[in-house]
Amino acid sequence: MSIALIILAAGKGTRMNSDLPKVLHPIANAPMLIHAMQAGQALSPEKTLVVAGHGAELVAKEVSDFDPDAAVVLQEEQNGTAHAVDMCREVLADFDGDVIVLFGDTPFVRAETLEKMVAAKEQHAVVVLGFDAADPGKYGRLIMNGDQLERIVEFSDASADERAVTFCNSGVMLVESKTLFDLISAISSDNAQGEYYLTDVVGLAREKGLNVTAVSCDEAETLGINSRAHLAEAEGIFQKNARAELLDLGVTLQQPETVMLSFDTVIGRDTVIEPNVYFGPHVTVESGTRIRAFSHLEGCHVSRGATVGPYARLRPGAELSENVHIGNFVEIKNAEVGEGTKVNHLSYIGDATLGSGTNIGAGTITCNYDGVMKHRTTIGNRVFIGSNTMLVAPVTVGDEAMTGSGSVITKNVPATDLALSRADQVNKPGVARKLFDLLKKKKQKQISETK
Ligand code: UD1
Ligand code: MG
Repeated sequence: MSIALIILAAGKGTRMNSDLPKVLHPIANAPMLIHAMQAGQALSPEKTLVVAGHGAELVAKEVSDFDPDAAVVLQEEQNGTAHAVDMCREVLADFDGDVIVLFGDTPFVRAETLEKMVAAKEQHAVVVLGFDAADPGKYGRLIMNGDQLERIVEFSDASADERAVTFCNSGVMLVESKTLFDLISAISSDNAQGEYYLTDVVGLAREKGLNVTAVSCDEAETLGINSRAHLAEAEGIFQKNARAELLDLGVTLQQPETVMLSFDTVIGRDTVIEPNVYFGPHVTVESGTRIRAFSHLEGCHVSRGATVGPYARLRPGAELSENVHIGNFVEIKNAEVGEGTKVNHLSYIGDATLGSGTNIGAGTITCNYDGVMKHRTTIGNRVFIGSNTMLVAPVTVGDEAMTGSGSVITKNVPATDLALSRADQVNKPGVARKLFDLLKKKKQKQISETK
């Protein structure tokens, strides 16, 4: 049966106290909404619809960046979860399949759990995802009768007996499309909150004699985010899980709790990550590399056998080939570094291509920006760039060339040439000693004058 995914994301999220729509607050550098979309997309849905309201334009942009085929449906007034789903009625008018409803502020539902729901759907018209709550608080309560889910009662409408139930509604629901919209038509807002509750689908389905059941999952999967405190908690949970996954995959994290990962960080086995390393979005690290302490990586690729850091910064577009060495206080941006090349100390390499077996001396800078435009530096194979070389781009240094330290290179250097651009050295015999004597006397005089 084909699946349409509806993700509810129109709510304001007042408790976030933010100008940013709640569902766009990031966890591991991706909006929480994208985490929810990713889980749903594991089911290969035929259609993905996101219901947006508050900050709809911003939400639409993030959605289309992640999945250009996803549709954003506007819900101008937030009259409840059933009303939100109802906004998708027209878009799904010709859709023949099941609809799965997720919440944009509930990012941790696992794909495996959704698959369990799909399996249960074979025997039931409606499948709801529930969980046993340690503290059921204000969650909707699932009223079971054996395997049948009879109804869901919202906390504000529940009796004392019903509130004592700890099996709660996660909000995730799976229903055949036509049935869903038929049942929604019958939902009223005659309840404590004056809203159209999606949860009423369950009671209405039972009145029609349809089979309804609940699949249960771990409470951790249903964590809903309503405040910055929840967001911080969610970040912590994500990081903990992502680190544990890496350890399982054979990556060494010397001090796991100090390593920050992003939603899409990929690290190969037998890589060693030292303490306090930050992985921003879009980083891939191959097997057998070492990322040393206090390094910051984003949008980059590190190949097998490379070492990075300590205190290195790899910015978007940094592409390190095998066995590259990037040392302390080195920044690499939008640059390919060829096999076995070393940039070991205090350098900035930006908008550049470096060949293989090249050595970049300490303090080398690619002067890539002229105040208006960016320019490229190209360095060949087996080149030696002397310490403190300024490479004023656009500039090319050919294979097996050298630059003398302290040079400011403004012209191309042909292969095998040595380029020197600095004042000639003059030695003045004995002048250092004279200068020392003079300065020491001067200092003595100053000291005696202040006494
Ligand atoms: C909902 C469930 C409750 C469940 C809980 C789990 C209903 C009626 N209640 O309650 O049983 O235990 O989630 O977290 O469904 N939204 C819209 N448009 C609206 C209203 C909501 O898009 O008009 C979105 C929100 O942005 C949010 C989600 O739907 O992502 C859930 O809405 P929320 O108001 O948080 O529902 P709860 O009261 O938490
Ligand atoms: Mg909620």
